Amino acid sequence: MGTNIIVAPSILSADFNVLGEEVKAIASGGADWVHVDVMDGVFVPNITMGPLVVRSIRAITDLVLDVHLMIDNPIRHIDQFADAGSDIITFHVEACKTPLEIIKKIRSKGKKVGVSIKPDTDVKIIYDILDKVDMVLVMTVEPGFGGQSFMGDMVAKIRNLKERFNGDIEVDGGINKTTAKEVVSAGANVLVAGTAVFGQEDYAEAIRGIREASGLSSL
Ligand code: DX5
Ligand code: ZN
Repeated sequence: MGTNIIVAPSILSADFNVLGEEVKAIASGGADWVHVDVMDGVFVPNITMGPLVVRSIRAITDLVLDVHLMIDNPIRHIDQFADAGSDIITFHVEACKTPLEIIKKIRSKGKKVGVSIKPDTDVKIIYDILDKVDMVLVMTVEPGFGGQSFMGDMVAKIRNLKERFNGDIEVDGGINKTTAKEVVSAGANVLVAGTAVFGQEDYAEAIRGIREASGLSSL
């Protein structure tokens, strides 16, 4: 069917000793976007990377940089992430008091806007801002770490969202060939995958596998 599936490998699971090579490898392996997980040790327990890394990746790829901000009070850092070359900036609705202000800020920098909800957050909380964002990121694990198991309960959330939102629906956490099929049939079209890509020997085969498995659901 018509839906174009976007596969966005998460570099959180890449080898950071050779990050540039890893990004080039997923690009030639057929990745659509590069998913960058930014964690601040406050909103989530883990600390990962910042604008400096986004800028380095920007210099070596033309792929869409899909920046997932798992940081508290994100308004403080939008300028830096935008100037570093992000294409889509996604913030967590739980991390801020004034989502509209952040949406406006991201737009003023000419970037696409995503809003994300954690597994325990009711999708209703974002109903009134759906017409102002390009993408909703539904977390299918508790944010903070790669390699966790997909939470099946989130499928209902995706379905609910699909009924009232025409933009991109991204899923993140525990996505592999099996879960890709489930989420795509519920309405997701952007699939983040960390271990299911970087944990495999052949990235091209892994990306193709996820794409093909998700396509089967629309038959
Ligand atoms: C988790 C991150 C994810 C993570 C996904 O907080 O947002 O992007 O890298 O990793 P996998 O695909 O291994 O669950
Ligand atoms: Zn992520």
